Amino acid sequence: MKNDNPVHSVGQLRMEYEHGTLLESDLPMEPLELFDQWMREAINSGQPEPHAMHLSTIDVDGMPAGRIVLLRGYDVRGLTFYTNYSSDKGQQLEANPRAAATFFWPQSERQIRVTGFVTRVDAAESDAYFQSRPRESRLGAWASAQSQVLPNRETLESSMEAMRMKYPSPLDIPRPPQWGGYRIKPIQYEFWQGRRSRLHDRLKYSTNDAGAWTITRLSP
Ligand SMILES: Cc1cc2nc3c(=O)[nH]c(=O)nc-3n(C[C@H](O)[C@H](O)[C@H](O)COP(=O)(O)O)c2cc1C
Repeated sequence: MKNDNPVHSVGQLRMEYEHGTLLESDLPMEPLELFDQWMREAINSGQPEPHAMHLSTIDVDGMPAGRIVLLRGYDVRGLTFYTNYSSDKGQQLEANPRAAATFFWPQSERQIRVTGFVTRVDAAESDAYFQSRPRESRLGAWASAQSQVLPNRETLESSMEAMRMKYPSPLDIPRPPQWGGYRIKPIQYEFWQGRRSRLHDRLKYSTNDAGAWTITRLSP
């Protein structure tokens, strides 16, 4: 008899050894310093897609929405990524400019969670980043109305072909007005280091209105 409700067991995650520890004595006053250290270590240790982050937004009905985007820069102003302002995420961020970003680097059993308020990157900075992208990516930003329904694949490809004809010179492709950057200004960071027996380290930085950070340890 056909089983309509198969149970898919995905097994146990086994951590037989530890990749590291995260102790209060390791923590800088500024979370950005630790973020930068972990990001550099993720890049240097050859993690796949070290800049990929899960971006959570909230729609107008309060329903959460998530997807992966690539971190393109970070500094005291926040974490920057680029996208289409008219996409689902863009519309959600325009209506409710709050987001959560989550990084996971499996090879070092590390996770960073960031939450904060979102603003658009200024036009000049978005222009400069757009012009640094390969020609086909710039044309793709024109050809794709991100998140809109497409009748079929051919429609997208002919839209791309039309853009190739419209902009034959790679030097001559302006940034589409609906494409640009967002910056998340963090109000909270959580650094998570996997440890043996699931006794993981979780250290949270929270900021107050004056901009000072307080650090707390959370149960795993
Ligand atoms: C590894 C990876 C990197 C991605 N990077 C980006 C990105 O930087 N910007 C972007 O708009 N979409 C990126 N995407 C596509 C998004 O996940 C998503 O499909 C798209 O942005 C539409 O999301 P939305 O409909 O929620 O707006 C990436 C996807 C993957 C898997």
